[in-house]
Amino acid sequence: MRIGLIGTGRIGAFHAATLVGLPAVSGIVVHDTDQRSARAIADRTGGEVAGDLDGLFGADLDGVVIASPTSTHAHLILAAHRAGLPTFCEKPVAGSLAETDAVLGALAGSDVPLHVGFQRRFDAGYQELREAVASGRLGWTHTLRACTADPTPPPPSYVPGSGGIFRDCSVHDYDIVRWVTGREVVEVYATGANRGEDFFAAADDVDTGVSVLTLDDGTLAVCTATRYNGAGYDVRLEVCGSKGSLVAGLTEHTPLTPAQSPARTAGTPYPGFMERFQDAYRAELTAFTELAAGLRTSPCTGHDARSALAVAEAATRSRLSGRPVRVETAVPAGSTGPR
Ligand SMILES: NC(=O)c1ccc[n+]([C@@H]2O[C@H](COP(=O)([O-])OP(=O)(O)OC[C@H]3O[C@@H](n4cnc5c(N)ncnc54)[C@H](O)[C@@H]3O)[C@@H](O)[C@H]2O)c1
Repeated sequence: MRIGLIGTGRIGAFHAATLVGLPAVSGIVVHDTDQRSARAIADRTGGEVAGDLDGLFGADLDGVVIASPTSTHAHLILAAHRAGLPTFCEKPVAGSLAETDAVLGALAGSDVPLHVGFQRRFDAGYQELREAVASGRLGWTHTLRACTADPTPPPPSYVPGSGGIFRDCSVHDYDIVRWVTGREVVEVYATGANRGEDFFAAADDVDTGVSVLTLDDGTLAVCTATRYNGAGYDVRLEVCGSKGSLVAGLTEHTPLTPAQSPARTAGTPYPGFMERFQDAYRAELTAFTELAAGLRTSPCTGHDARSALAVAEAATRSRLSGRPVRVETAVPAGSTGPR
C-alpha cells in the first residue's frame, strides 16, 4: 500500500524510515511545508514528494500519517477525512478539549478510521501489564505508579507551545493507565515545581509535575514527570494489586540504582523515546496498515485521545488552582466517532 506522510520533522522522519521498512508498504509520499525537509526525507527513504496537500491526497494513497505540529492536527485530520483516507495522527487530536470535541463532532458517524499515536499501547511491557490486570492475577489493584522522565529539558522555545508538562509528557501516562486498567479517571490532583531553569516558570509551566489520579473503581495512580532526570531517560509503570505487582520498563536499560541490594546496578539508559519505543512505533504503524486495509478496528480512537487529554487538562487546572479537579468525561452528543 501507499502511505502519505505529513510532516518530516523529528517524529515524521523517524516514521518515514519505519514505514518504508514495513512489508505492507510499497511506497510513501511525503509532504512538509519545509520543502527541503520533505525532499531530504524522500531521498533518504526512496519516497516521493508532494508539494501541497491536494497533490498528496491525489497521489493514489491507501492511508495518511500526520506527524506535523499539534496546532495543525485538527485541520489535517478533517482534510484527510474529507479525502476518505484512513488516518494515523500523532497525539494529540488537537491542543484543547474544545477543539478535540469539534473534530470528533465533525467525524461523528464516519466510517473513515482514525488511529491516534499513543505508542506505549504497543510496548511489550505495557501489554503484559494489561493482560495481568485483565486476567486477575494481580488481584484487585490499589496503586499504580507511573514515571515519565526526560534526561534534559527541551529547548526554551518549545516550552510555551507545549501545553505544559501534563499535556506534553504525562498525557502518555494518562492514556496508558486507562488502557492497562480498562478504567476511567474521575478525579485529578496535581502539583508541580520549578527547581531548574527559569524558562519553565516564564511560560507558566513546571519542570517537574506529579498528578494523583482516582480511577472509577477506586484505584489510585501517581504519575510523575520531570525534565531533569540526570540518571537518564526513564519511563515505567508499576501496577500493584492485592495478590501481586508487576512493572513495565524495568529492564537492563533502566537508570535506577538500588541503594542497598547488589543484585542490580543501573543500566545504560536509552537516549530518548525513539530508542526506548522503537519496536512499539513499528508495531503501531503495522497496526495502522492493518487498519487501513480494513483488517482491524482502531487501536486508539479519537475518543481515547480525548479521554487522555481531559485528564491532562484537569491536571493543569488542578496545579493552577491547588484543588482536586473532576475529569470532564462528557463527549459531544452523537459523536460515536470513526472506528
Ligand atoms: N507519540 C510520541 O511519542 C511523539 C513523540 C514526538 C512528537 N510527537 C508528536 O508529533 C508531532 C510532531 O512533533 P515533532 O517533534 O516531530 O515536531 P517537529 O517540529 O520536529 O516537526 C514538525 C514538522 O512538520 C512540518 N510542518 C509544520 N506545519 C506543517 C503543515 N501545516 N503541513 C505539513 N508540514 C508541516 C515542519 O516543517 C516540521 O518539519 C507533535 O504533535 C507531537 O506531539 C509524538
